[in-house]
Amino acid sequence: MYTVPKLKSFSAAALDKAVEKLLAALKQEAASAKNEADWKIFRDRWMARKNGVLTEINDLWLKAAPKEAKREVGQRVNELKATVTQTVDKSRPGTATAVSRADLSVKASLGTVVATAAGPDALDITLPGIRRPLGSEHPVIKTMHEIVSVFRNLGYSVQEGPVIETDYYNFEALNFPPNHPARDTQDTLFIAGQEAKPQRERLLLRTHTSPVQIRTMEKMKPPVRIVIPGKVHRNDPPDASHSPMFHQVEGLAVDTNITFCDLKGTLDHAMKALFGSSVKTSFRPSFFPFTEPSAEMMVSCFICGGSGKRGSEPCRPCKQTGWIEILGCGMVDPNVYGFVDYDPRKVSGFAFGMGADRIAILKYGVHDIQLFFNGDVRFLEQFG
Ligand code: DAH
Repeated sequence: MYTVPKLKSFSAAALDKAVEKLLAALKQEAASAKNEADWKIFRDRWMARKNGVLTEINDLWLKAAPKEAKREVGQRVNELKATVTQTVDKSRPGTATAVSRADLSVKASLGTVVATAAGPDALDITLPGIRRPLGSEHPVIKTMHEIVSVFRNLGYSVQEGPVIETDYYNFEALNFPPNHPARDTQDTLFIAGQEAKPQRERLLLRTHTSPVQIRTMEKMKPPVRIVIPGKVHRNDPPDASHSPMFHQVEGLAVDTNITFCDLKGTLDHAMKALFGSSVKTSFRPSFFPFTEPSAEMMVSCFICGGSGKRGSEPCRPCKQTGWIEILGCGMVDPNVYGFVDYDPRKVSGFAFGMGADRIAILKYGVHDIQLFFNGDVRFLEQFG
């Protein structure tokens, strides 16, 4: 097996000889890579960043060359890189070249001009080129954009924040005191090895987009009207309806005299814009540490029209209830204003947060959230 020698001399003649040997080895090894597995070994032997032949000639020839020879050696090393890359590409079993050879030999057997003019090893320029497939928006991102644009049309602006967050922003400033049981509702992934830090500085993967409410109010005086799209993580094992990574869109409006009526009116409008003007909304009491009062909002099922049935079959998405739980919301708890230096006697506001993946699942009738994230192009293409 060929190994890259150290060079004793960097003269043109010595370089010629070394290059010649290397190319002979390359040609011979390329020819014996007959199947995909062999070809991969061949490719890695020559091109692997660590210990590949190309890396070695860089180290043993170029780096070792004396100053006066650097230019000459550099040129040769560059040429060798191009030749090796091309040879590796071309020798892959089942590539266009291999096909074109077979193609040409058929033509040759018919005695056509192509084979005699071009020769069996020539590139067949009559083959169609490789078309780069066009990408399209991922269905979850598309859904997030739709939600965001509904609120942008109402005059909201967009804010984003870090996915790796401190305990302070993810919990404490949102009125989850240290060790409070409300923290247990959000199974949190903590970054390891931070025991030495005070609790509020410890890093975690944010479990919701709500910390961006705090980050925004810290830097902006009221009035505030924002939407916050983003990625969040929880320690939920993956199944058809759970993923340790998912997406939320959060909203916050703070001003003088904002009431629960504003919350209801805004969210009712948003749901009609997203799911069609015939959907109804309904609120029921809930609890979040950072809102008081808190509510869960339901929309009438836009799949069965609220009847709970699809023909004679039960409607699955709404579990036959005619309603789908779509988001959490409430009036910003006055304690939260204390953390951002807003005066709770002067301002009031509402907030809401929804799961974008869940909404995409309902909108597109997808039965498994994992399909969004395992990167199967056959699934994703359907949304193009
Ligand atoms: N952050 C909550 C969660 O992830 C959702 C939420 C509820 C956000 C109520 C809000 C809100 O802004 O007001 O479970």
